[in-house]
Amino acid sequence: MTRPTSQSETLFRRSLDCMIEGGSSPSRGPANYGDYPLFMERAEGAHIYDVDGNRYLDWMMSYGALPLGHAHPEVVEAIQKAAADGTHFASATEIEIEVAEQLQKMIPGAERVRFANTGTEATMAAIRLARGFTGRPKFVKFEGQYHGWFDDFLVNSHPQPTVSLGHRNDPIKIPDSSGLNRRALDDTIVVPWNDTKAIERAFDTWGSQIAAVITEGIIANMGVIPPAPGYLKALRQLTRHHDALLILDETVTGCRIAPGGCQEYYEVHADIVTLGKGLGAGLPVAAFVGGAHVMEALAWGGVLHYGTQNASRIGMHAAHANLECLLRDDGAAFVHTWRIGEELCNGLREIFQKTSTPAIVQNVGPMLQILFTDRESIEDYRAFCSHVDRDRYRQFALALFDQGVYMTPSAALHSVASLAHTSEDVAFTLEAVEKVLSDGA
Ligand SMILES: Cc1ncc(COP(=O)(O)O)c(C=O)c1O
Repeated sequence: MTRPTSQSETLFRRSLDCMIEGGSSPSRGPANYGDYPLFMERAEGAHIYDVDGNRYLDWMMSYGALPLGHAHPEVVEAIQKAAADGTHFASATEIEIEVAEQLQKMIPGAERVRFANTGTEATMAAIRLARGFTGRPKFVKFEGQYHGWFDDFLVNSHPQPTVSLGHRNDPIKIPDSSGLNRRALDDTIVVPWNDTKAIERAFDTWGSQIAAVITEGIIANMGVIPPAPGYLKALRQLTRHHDALLILDETVTGCRIAPGGCQEYYEVHADIVTLGKGLGAGLPVAAFVGGAHVMEALAWGGVLHYGTQNASRIGMHAAHANLECLLRDDGAAFVHTWRIGEELCNGLREIFQKTSTPAIVQNVGPMLQILFTDRESIEDYRAFCSHVDRDRYRQFALALFDQGVYMTPSAALHSVASLAHTSEDVAFTLEAVEKVLSDGA
């Protein structure tokens, strides 16, 4: 960075005596940010400020947790009012019903709702529910998808050298972490995504043992990779044919692509949908929802899902205000974020073409990622691992920080447009991109 960031550096050095890598998740540390992460201090609307007083136009939006932007006044007011009456009761509350009713209106098939705190908790619970409901042990997880840091999912979620992936008919399971329960992955079947033949093969081999197929509607953790036309519907048909459940992980795409998420946009109906990130407007709120006959298995803890912090009052009030804003005026917020996303992506594509930069932009409305590649598109994990220059992206993103633009520093993640972004913000970003490319990033 050429901007002054000495306060961040000082805090980072101080943190090393009491924390690991300066923060509470490796994705916030030097792995993505270089020598030290930027320490952020405050934020408003589309902008975030670091401890040295630098201002950044924020396209990260807390890994997608802020569809309305930072410190939206209605969310702030809801949080303040709720906190004044007590932060959390860990008992039944009316606000919980109100948010559940909002979700029922938004999400196709959400006959019943259960709240959790994080996307990881929601997907973990969804898999347990699917196993409990079907009485089957196995589930299918796709290469290049991330569903949280639960042992059973932590496989082939990180980019790997192509040579280590094995043949696509029999992918090598590559755990993403040390310390996993050794048997945790025995019942996880790993399959390439966007490949109908591959999932058919998995059902031919293990059909009656498969409780569920879990999938992101749009891959959001290997850049942005949309489903091939008809692919999600093919997953729906196959799971139904084999009496397995379809779990749609909308932790990223929920409250973002459409009120009803990918189910609405791609016209596909899952048995269980998981939500997180954008639901709580920055507070830890997640949920899993589904048909009453499936969700009923949670009753009396038959399929156990506990949580002292589940449906915390403040989180519920924040989620309620958030959903009210998102759904207002027939979902105008979604129209806005799609327009901004398209403006940004089209502008980026023009610049890359004009400057002969070997980069493409993949997006679905407000979710986007720039991929440095000589390919015309990246359709799955294997193509991402083989053909995307992640180092070049990182240098490019870090150079943008110097221009006051904060995009995700990881090629494997993505950036998002929020309600707070404007066309002027797009113009500012495009100017910054032209500058860093002309400087050689
Ligand atoms: C698709 C998807 N599912 C689940 C998760 C886990 O959510 P959390 O980080 O809230 O545990 C993430 C997080 O990035 C995600 O992208």
